[in-house]
Amino acid sequence: MKTCDVSITGRSLEKYAGPLLVFLVAERKKNTPRCDEPVRKGVDHLHRLGDVKGKADEMTMLYPNQSNLPVKTKARRILLAGFGEYDKTAGLEGMAERFRTAGGTISQQAARVKSREVLVVFPSWVKEHRRYLAGCLVEGMLLGNYRFDKYKKADEGDEKFEGIDTIEIHVDSRAFRHEVAKVSRRCRSVATARNMANEPGNRWTPDDFAQFAVDLAKRSDLHCSVLDKDQIEKLGMGGIIAVNQGSSTQPKLVVLEHNPPSFSKTMVLVGKGVTFDSGGVSLKPAAGMQDMKYDMCGGAAVLSTMQVVAEEKPGLRVVAIVPATDNMAGGAAVKPGDIITHFNGVTSEVINTDAEGRLILADALAYGIDRYQPDWVVDLATLTGAVIVGLGNHRAGLMSNHDGLAELISRVGDICGEKVWRLPLDKEYVDQIDSEVADIKNVGGKSGGSITAAAYLLKFVGQTPWAHLDIAGTAWDYTKKSYIPKGPSGFGVRLLLSLIDSWKQLKLGGKNKS
Ligand code: BES
Ligand code: MN
Ligand code: ZN
Repeated sequence: MKTCDVSITGRSLEKYAGPLLVFLVAERKKNTPRCDEPVRKGVDHLHRLGDVKGKADEMTMLYPNQSNLPVKTKARRILLAGFGEYDKTAGLEGMAERFRTAGGTISQQAARVKSREVLVVFPSWVKEHRRYLAGCLVEGMLLGNYRFDKYKKADEGDEKFEGIDTIEIHVDSRAFRHEVAKVSRRCRSVATARNMANEPGNRWTPDDFAQFAVDLAKRSDLHCSVLDKDQIEKLGMGGIIAVNQGSSTQPKLVVLEHNPPSFSKTMVLVGKGVTFDSGGVSLKPAAGMQDMKYDMCGGAAVLSTMQVVAEEKPGLRVVAIVPATDNMAGGAAVKPGDIITHFNGVTSEVINTDAEGRLILADALAYGIDRYQPDWVVDLATLTGAVIVGLGNHRAGLMSNHDGLAELISRVGDICGEKVWRLPLDKEYVDQIDSEVADIKNVGGKSGGSITAAAYLLKFVGQTPWAHLDIAGTAWDYTKKSYIPKGPSGFGVRLLLSLIDSWKQLKLGGKNKS
């Protein structure tokens, strides 16, 4: 994807002669909509006609040069972007989401008229949190401007539209620059995660994860190490080896570290990097199997997060670990009934080879904790279909052994618009994965599938405060949001970055559930 430049401007709107000038219009129950002065008369007129109400998603494109609407401008088009109600009772979170949504819709409209440049007037009627909310608007625009069409030719006779490349935000103060720069950085990382996920299984392999990390380390202060199959085997990571056994592609354990000059806290991030999940010998049904190229979205999220970590250099150590392999059914593949030994010596009976995510995460978690002695561990994984049954596509499942960490993740998730919902993790669920023949088994029966998957991971984190995010329902194709195009969402990047932002609020100790 091309990069998109975002800048702040205070230039005269009357002189603007570009392709697309955008004003936000907010609904008011018994009144004419809120809008900015330059379009006031026009909006009043259209409101009287009943055409403009300011509802969210209501998009009105005006062509000022060809109309006698009372709007003074040289712009080729004016978009009146409906905002919905500017209602403080929605709270800052609700308001932030409305601005992101408006931003996403503006990008969709720009694409419809193939406008590569957009000037958006940030509304003067927004009185509080102006800088933050302008950031949310930009966030929505940038995230909604994402496209992945590198393998697709343009329709004949049609010029290929490659997205907006210049966004200008019209505001009264230069102070917005930092916020906009921060948001742009973060949206670039979300795009990076989406790009990785969009590559199919034959074009995004464990080696590509490794290459990405090596390249990122080269152009930053991050330290990268990649363990190959021999090293993974020597370290006793029986889970990764087992999942990889049926494949002709070598596994990798990719590690990226941000080491500040001095630090007192360490956060380890682990992401499931299954570059294609066929299910292995416990083969998945054919219908929809192509979507299992997305089974690496957790890995994509944690490595892409490191791109921003490298730029922003937070004051704690952050380590991202991605166990990467595909899950195939070759002749040497692991079989139901096989018993494997994990990094920490725990033995496991493989009941179903399609429950492979927990096998590779178990090794990566135990390794990360042993090697880095972290204060907090967070893993992200497209781990279970069951989480989609339970929570649908609007919240990720959160399971944790630490209330403080779980609460903070829930809070930052609500704020950044990547929402989670905590599920329990009591001992009874953990008992479901007891095996007759080994320490544990990799499935715990039909009921509580997301929780028993988390219970498996719990065996590998010891007392370290840990949170597991099951992103199977949110990692792709939750298309209800204007700023999340169809395909991979990049879920987790913004959440992890918000969590890192607030790491100082993270208290150790506290009451542990489970
Ligand atoms: N990658 C899948 C989970 C998944 C399913 C993600 C659908 C997104 C959409 C995972 O490896 C898997 O196959 N899980 C099994 C576990 C079962 C065999 C215990 C599942 O959820 O069916
Ligand atoms: Mn699977
Ligand atoms: Zn999987």
